[in-house]
Amino acid sequence: MTEDHFDTLAIHAGQEPDPTTGAAVVPIYATSTYVQSAPGEHKGYEYSRTDNPTRTALQTQLAALEGVMEGDDGGCVATSSGLAATSLIGFMLSPGDHLLLSNDAYGGTYRLVAQVLAGHGIEFSTVEMTDLDAVAAAMQSNTKVVWIETPTNPLLKVVDIAAVAAIADASGATVVVDNTFATPYLQQPLELGADMVLHSSTKYLGGHSDTVGGAIVTNDADLHERLRFLQNAAGPVPGPFDCYLVLRGIKTLGVRMDRHCSNAMMIANFLADDPRVERVWYPGLPTDAGYDTAVSQMAAFGGMVSFVPKGGMDAANRIASSTRLFFLAESLGGVESLIEVPAAMTHMSVEGTALEVPEDLIRLSVGIEHIDDLVSDLDLALG
Ligand SMILES: Cc1ncc(COP(=O)(O)O)c(C=O)c1O
Repeated sequence: MTEDHFDTLAIHAGQEPDPTTGAAVVPIYATSTYVQSAPGEHKGYEYSRTDNPTRTALQTQLAALEGVMEGDDGGCVATSSGLAATSLIGFMLSPGDHLLLSNDAYGGTYRLVAQVLAGHGIEFSTVEMTDLDAVAAAMQSNTKVVWIETPTNPLLKVVDIAAVAAIADASGATVVVDNTFATPYLQQPLELGADMVLHSSTKYLGGHSDTVGGAIVTNDADLHERLRFLQNAAGPVPGPFDCYLVLRGIKTLGVRMDRHCSNAMMIANFLADDPRVERVWYPGLPTDAGYDTAVSQMAAFGGMVSFVPKGGMDAANRIASSTRLFFLAESLGGVESLIEVPAAMTHMSVEGTALEVPEDLIRLSVGIEHIDDLVSDLDLALG
């Protein structure tokens, strides 16, 4: 049998017609419990924290998109948010273990590590993940997890997943890749040597800014079993309606990502050529430090663009407050374009740490509106 392509898996993996009614779309199984025919005799479902059919469909679909098919080792666990997924990985660590984190990771990831896990005796340090010598030097005998985010949020640095995985493997550390920005459509970390892939499905997977969720996919049977245990034992599960929204969003992931990427590329070029702009970060610009690595490990460069306007923080605040189509809001990855100032919004919690971002940096989540309208919106806002 030939293997189906990504766009086909997105629509069919885990999504057989409903066995009782023939419904073509996986139903929202709004039930907390399942009737048993005799004590312990059931159809695979007992209680919805442990398993729910809508969640099972989403987990099967997302695992397939990260290259883990039904019957393969490993699988996916869906969670109630991206940070809930990060917490589950935190639960895998014991006091005295060390976690090595990229120095440009999502602020919420850093906050969880520095302000929660550290309180439970988990050691951590941050490193410039694009500097392989620095990564090798930062590995400790107790390093259990190397946490890669690529492209990073918000500076869009591109980390060489295969190279960092090779360094981590040599010391037996588990490699986690936060694939939220790239999505499996653009980047397949497990194929590049990662052990676990983490998502905030709030973003491109859901794709419509109408749900909060997360997931972890692994191709390792033991890690999957442990994650399944933790998902049930700790309980941060998504409800069936949220699973349905992500399942539905993922069906159009490929077509949406194509448009996100082409719109972002045009906006990055527009900004890079504009005298009102000081600097642009986009891995698809050949001048960008991450360009070569991005070309080697990503199918395209994603929908996020960051820039610093001329005029400092006042200019950044003015621009971010005066777009019409780009909504001034946190989050990213939805069909609608968003603009934000990370230092005052998403990344406030990393102020004064190694992860601090420039105060006049503007981050764009480029949506799938018509490119001419988006460019003219930015053009007017730049003033
Ligand atoms: C790269 C990245 N990872 C993880 C998260 C956390 O996801 P959530 O907000 O769904 O908890 C975010 C949220 O912005 C993110 O941008």
